[in-house]
Amino acid sequence: MHQKLVLCFFTFLLLSIGCITIKAARTSFSSTHDRRSLLDNGLGRTPQMGWNSWNHFACNIEEKLIRETADAMVSTGLAAAGYQYVNIDDCWAELNRDSKGNFVPKTDTFPSGIKALADYVHNKGLKLGIYSDAGTQTCSKKMPGSLGHEEQDAKTFASWGIDYLKYDNCNDQGISPKERYPIMTKALQKAGRPIFFSLCEWGRDDPATWANEVGNSWRTTGDISDNWNSMTSRADENDKWAGYAKPGGWNDPDMLEVGNGGMTTEEYRSHFSIWALAKAPLLVGCDVRSMSKETYEILSNREVIAVNQGRLKSFIIPFLS
Ligand code: GAL
Repeated sequence: MHQKLVLCFFTFLLLSIGCITIKAARTSFSSTHDRRSLLDNGLGRTPQMGWNSWNHFACNIEEKLIRETADAMVSTGLAAAGYQYVNIDDCWAELNRDSKGNFVPKTDTFPSGIKALADYVHNKGLKLGIYSDAGTQTCSKKMPGSLGHEEQDAKTFASWGIDYLKYDNCNDQGISPKERYPIMTKALQKAGRPIFFSLCEWGRDDPATWANEVGNSWRTTGDISDNWNSMTSRADENDKWAGYAKPGGWNDPDMLEVGNGGMTTEEYRSHFSIWALAKAPLLVGCDVRSMSKETYEILSNREVIAVNQGRLKSFIIPFLS
């Protein structure tokens, strides 16, 4: 009798905690959605997963690399593990726009154009991301930015079949990010295609406090480098904003360096685990065409990915459900 009572009491306690936690989690999900005014694309309900060209290739990119990366994402199993975006970073366009003011993909490195690349990537079951800048030129100064061309560029991206825009912050003409970024948010909303919007103003204006209505993720730090100190300092800076990350909008301590050679396997394992726990975007930054078995094992660890992609906040709920 006594044992039964104790068991009943604990069951009741666990169920009550579970109910309270589930309610808290649900409340925050719906209120997040209700609050979103400028950006309502329904994307980023969990942190984005994919690949980006910058950390490994910088400006040395071409369409063949993007196609081969898409192939490798599928053939290695990364796509099946949840990585869906193939993102082209800086240096994909000519320095000058055409006579109508449109972006021109670089003729020597992207001769088939971006639409053809998007078709190729979509045929693999993946999504294509692109890069621009909320200033007059991108950070490399090798291509134009979108300041003053927001609607035109958003329409161009949508017409090409782009699924993701990373939006950088160089050459800003002295205008605050809080003014420049929402213009692109509105332009994307009008462009007629859901495009994940990744803000990259390096945490300058504390974007966690305002970007939830503007983008699906926001950088909280300067650029990561492929070493332990850089990685852990990004994690520390990012941690401060943990309470602001929610479905639809995530803190971004920059892209992964796993597999780029500057850290040990153990350090890369820590890097990936910290990013997963922080609900950070999981954007692979190495050459996936030639990654090692160790790199693949870190990046495809399903239990770690589940922590990052889990939709419930509580650690209690998985035990109850
Ligand atoms: C930086 C950005 C990097 C990369 C680079 C391209 O501002 O933080 O992730 O996009 O520009 O020039």
